[in-house]
Amino acid sequence: MTDRSLSFPAPRALTIALLSASLLASPAAFSQQAILEGERFHPQESSHGMVATSHFLASEVARDVLAAGGNAVDAAVVAGFALAVTQPRSGNIGGGGFMLISDEQSDEVIAIDYRETAPAAAFETMFQDENGEAVTERSRFTHLAAGVPGTVAGLAMALEKYGTLSLAEALEPAIRLAEEGFVVPPRFVKGLQDTRGRFEAWDASMAKFFKEDGSAYQVGDLFQQPDLAATLKRIAEEGAREFYEGETARLIVAEMERHDGLITQEDLAGYQPVIREPSHGTYRGHDIYAMSPPSSGGAHIVQMLNILEEYPIGEMGFGSADSMHLMAEAMKRAYADRSEFLGDTDFVDVPLAGLTSKGYAAELRAQIGEQATPSAEIAPGNPVDYESNETTHFSIVDDNGLAVSNTYTINFSYGSGIVVDGAGFLLNNEMDDFSAKPGVPNAYGLIGGEANKVEPGKRMLSSMTPTIVKRDGKNYLITGSPGGSRIITTTLQVLMNVIDHGMNIQSAVSAPRMHHQWLPDEIRTEAGFSPDTLELLRERGHTISQQSAMGAAQSILIEDGMYYGGADPRRSTSSAIGL
Ligand code: GLY
Repeated sequence: MTDRSLSFPAPRALTIALLSASLLASPAAFSQQAILEGERFHPQESSHGMVATSHFLASEVARDVLAAGGNAVDAAVVAGFALAVTQPRSGNIGGGGFMLISDEQSDEVIAIDYRETAPAAAFETMFQDENGEAVTERSRFTHLAAGVPGTVAGLAMALEKYGTLSLAEALEPAIRLAEEGFVVPPRFVKGLQDTRGRFEAWDASMAKFFKEDGSAYQVGDLFQQPDLAATLKRIAEEGAREFYEGETARLIVAEMERHDGLITQEDLAGYQPVIREPSHGTYRGHDIYAMSPPSSGGAHIVQMLNILEEYPIGEMGFGSADSMHLMAEAMKRAYADRSEFLGDTDFVDVPLAGLTSKGYAAELRAQIGEQATPSAEIAPGNPVDYESNETTHFSIVDDNGLAVSNTYTINFSYGSGIVVDGAGFLLNNEMDDFSAKPGVPNAYGLIGGEANKVEPGKRMLSSMTPTIVKRDGKNYLITGSPGGSRIITTTLQVLMNVIDHGMNIQSAVSAPRMHHQWLPDEIRTEAGFSPDTLELLRERGHTISQQSAMGAAQSILIEDGMYYGGADPRRSTSSAIGL
């Protein structure tokens, strides 16, 4: 075990008043190699690249691609399609997401935005009743809930720009897994049991996820998906536009017409992924790149890190009341701003430069005292500078300087629960991520404002935060997570656990998590924090709510030519594999 006292002075009594007097800690200089020995949680280690996904079958096929000489983007696209088969609760071709790609050789970090869009016939009050009240059932479990899917176009764009495989080659493993089937693990069986009620409304959903007599798949059964295999084969043969203009598009539109959905042939034909510049910030000498709007993730992770950077978080220690108090205070201020300012920058101005500036962070920091500020006393701030519950994340790196951080989703576990008849895939219910009505929370309790109202062609605000941290110009930490509103804070904590607390990547991913999202005014915790610490937080005025596990941050850390994979133990199928 490393003698931590070499890096961290012994804990001492620090008052918040003292802390706020700019104690900018120097960049931590932990070596993964040095801190591995004797650790309770051990990462996967490799010298030639690493894959971390939430399903072992997807990790295996992606690792095979790297082993055969493919690059990280090839492997990521293969993993993305494989997850659509092996993990239908969140892996998808009927949803959307974001992919960050960092190419060390060109020193370029880009973001591919393949978020769903609102159909052309969508309108601001479509999820309100005649009295102007939000109707959540409509935005979650009907055909109106679906945005125009972006995954197929997004993965194809990544492959075309950075990959070496053809789309047909990248689809091969997914087609094989769908056609030949795979043996279902316990998590798969439990997921379908829990969601059965949602599927029962739709014949095609029952036919896909349950046996012919309506009985459930059991652990060890073979699960085959012939309709999905046929859809993937059509895409392999005809290209990505098949999904948007071919037989698959026809099946989606027919599904919409049968059930009063809005997505038309024109919506599908008009869908395009967009290359965007990621949000960028610095934290203790590291460069942080994370997803820019239409995700709120990048702006707010940078904002929170800017607030926290001036405190000696490492000295306070992981899980200390001091550090948790400061994190909660930073989180609630960021989420208050999210509720007001964030939306699709193609439609609304978002004060990104202000939100991510060190100056604005200093203003917010000045509001933080020793006691909790009640959320009722926090309103969205004035960042000024305007510039012209299931998701899945995977991280992949090759040994040629290419790193991929990808988060994609159909929103809820199994999305809307609606399978496109004849096409074998689930439709997302991402329209619920718009503000049904300004001020009314979505499924994750997130409040949205005018900036995130429904508009035709607009992308709904997301929290997905695929993140790449660079150190000295090199890819260093690749992470991200599912978890709805908790995505941003989960990702924040993986970063802080490595940079502030010197954890190895497996420990950073496994450590207990906390979360505050302004409203409700409570710190949500996982099990595992000391009751004494929680009591100290209560004494400072925080409300604590211990709930279920948060996130699944499949992560990779690169140091001294070694690749370390941290698979999140919160998912029984998580898997990191090196080569
Ligand atoms: N659907 C969850 C998110 O995009 O944040």
